[in-house]
Amino acid sequence: MTAPEEDKLREQALATLTTARDRTTLLTSCVEDPDLTAQHSPLMSPLVWDLAHIGNQEEQWLLRTVAGREAMRPEIDGLYDAFEHPRAERPSLPLLPPDEARRYASEVRGRVMDVLESTAFHGTRLTEAGFAFGMIAQHEQQHDETMLITHQLRKGPQALTAPDPDPVPLFTGPAEVLVPGGPFTMGTSTEPWALDNERPAHRREVAPFYIDTTPVTNGAYQAFIEDGGYDAPRWWTSEGWAHIRKNSVTAPLYWNRDGKQWLRRRFGVTEVVPPDEPVLHVCWYEADAYARWAGRRLPTEAEWEKAARHDPAGDRSMRYPWGDADPAPEHANLGQRHLRPAPAGSYPEGESPLGVRQLIGDVWEWTASDFLPYPGFQAFPYKEYSEVFFGPEYKVLRGGAFAVDAVACRGTFRNWDYPIRRQIFSGFRTARSGDV
Ligand code: AVJ
Ligand code: FE
Repeated sequence: MTAPEEDKLREQALATLTTARDRTTLLTSCVEDPDLTAQHSPLMSPLVWDLAHIGNQEEQWLLRTVAGREAMRPEIDGLYDAFEHPRAERPSLPLLPPDEARRYASEVRGRVMDVLESTAFHGTRLTEAGFAFGMIAQHEQQHDETMLITHQLRKGPQALTAPDPDPVPLFTGPAEVLVPGGPFTMGTSTEPWALDNERPAHRREVAPFYIDTTPVTNGAYQAFIEDGGYDAPRWWTSEGWAHIRKNSVTAPLYWNRDGKQWLRRRFGVTEVVPPDEPVLHVCWYEADAYARWAGRRLPTEAEWEKAARHDPAGDRSMRYPWGDADPAPEHANLGQRHLRPAPAGSYPEGESPLGVRQLIGDVWEWTASDFLPYPGFQAFPYKEYSEVFFGPEYKVLRGGAFAVDAVACRGTFRNWDYPIRRQIFSGFRTARSGDV
């Protein structure tokens, strides 16, 4: 890498770390202290845990590992180790109070600014192209998404606001497109800040398939509900059926029926469910059941990535559906600019060469696939990011949501969660096998 290339990456590292911290600050200052230390759901940490955990990860990787500095507060490491304490337990720990957590995170950041200046972006795998800084910016943004999930779970008046996405003309394109069969390159070996589970690039054979041009909408999902979808075991896997019966799941999370119409609660406000917006807060079992009801299925992870990255003109994989340019506001709904998905069919400038829209941003999309390593996978820089989660208990989600920042969202980016989870910003699109 040339010196100007390194300088550009260093600037990018600084900009992404700063963007992340601005968001963290907003998410932890828009409510009073009692709301930071309270546990709003047993599924989530208190917000003040996320805040100090963000600082602690940054200290461990950038100050101790990259710069070789001594631990600032070794006694707190255990408190903020996600594996030592499950989320439900975190409120009972002697966590740093809000002011101390803020001070700690900002002291770490102050020292990181010096380390960023003085670290060569080459020489070791961890610092190559500024990987460690990019990894930490992604980590903070992932927790900013986690904190937004907590804000959505929180009861009480609205604390966050954002403008709605611009209105768009009704989408009139085809409902699905055919993705031709054949091999494509999945994953990456060249994207500098790609995380271990996205690596390495490898060829994957994919049979021809059709995929929805937009995510499934609330209106379409309502048709499944009205048709008795939640009362018909034939649409559900046996685990899915057992789960929804046991937990009385009868609609997406946050939905409530009010006479003939559906209402939803969104960041402290109750509103009519907009029919043309991608459905949000459904679990994998619901997505899978809807697809079966529609005579379709969820795309596999490889199908999703081929739809998102394959350039049929050049037989190569692009970074994003629209090409290789970094995401800009006209491409995708990312970065908590809006606190909701944009209507299905938005972002024409973000569409793939075959005309598939909103693959990036808006809602995380459930895929049919379990979270598994690619051939040649190597855990880096720590097994607890991906490796310990590989296996059939987790399903892969792709594409990112309005809640995700661009730094943590790529055509190759992989997210995963349990098939019962729906407090996450999850939706889906459907597919069907093509004629061979
Ligand atoms: C990739 C979103 C599943 O939040 O559990 C944050 C990201 N890893 N800190 C998660 C993560 C460590 C992770 N997900
Ligand atoms: Fe974390």
